[in-house]
Amino acid sequence: MIKLVWVTDNNDIIGHSDLAHHDPAAATRPAGLDAEINRIFIADNIVVGKTTLPLCTDYIPHYKSFYVLTRDKNFTVADHANLSVIHDPQELVTKYQDSKETLLVGGGKAIWELFLPHASELIIALIDSHPGDLKFDAWRSVKKTKYNEVDWKNGKTHYYAIHRK
Ligand SMILES: NC(=O)c1ccc[n+]([C@@H]2O[C@H](COP(=O)([O-])OP(=O)(O)OC[C@H]3O[C@@H](n4cnc5c(N)ncnc54)[C@H](OP(=O)(O)O)[C@@H]3O)[C@@H](O)[C@H]2O)c1
Repeated sequence: MIKLVWVTDNNDIIGHSDLAHHDPAAATRPAGLDAEINRIFIADNIVVGKTTLPLCTDYIPHYKSFYVLTRDKNFTVADHANLSVIHDPQELVTKYQDSKETLLVGGGKAIWELFLPHASELIIALIDSHPGDLKFDAWRSVKKTKYNEVDWKNGKTHYYAIHRK
């Protein structure tokens, strides 16, 4: 099963196009968000894009398989037994789309857009205002049913099942 997971606001902002502006310790970061991220980004396996990787290196040991997507055949990463560099997203779609094992798609925008047509579920943590200028809104036009909502301090997490053909 492939699940997309992200944090956003009602304007679909998900982060900065220039990561020089990314500040994980921003004073405006809602209390409770880190705990919610730790709760919803849990699965055996995760894939992120090359751009997002530097933001989440501390989380690499938490997963059985941690995949990084890039077209760059020369891209190398620090040695972790569970980390693989992948050049063809179809490899992961074939492995996980109809599997009982979950692949979380942890972002960013380019990577959610790639996997959205193959996903079964969306997990969206909604906060009042997300910093940044980058929008991910392609999920809005997908046919889906909300099956759960979880309230937490300063936010709400929405769970959708996608109607796959
Ligand atoms: N709000 C949240 O929950 C959340 C979570 C994660 C990230 N983010 C945000 O997302 C933003 C980054 O998103 P982004 O779209 O710029 O970057 P990204 O999705 O993290 O990574 C983009 C990279 O993925 C690789 N890629 C894209 N398509 C590919 C394909 N078909 N095959 C192989 N590799 C492919 C490319 O690497 P190459 O150029 O090397 O080929 C591309 O540069 C940041 O602002 C970050 O903070 C937000």
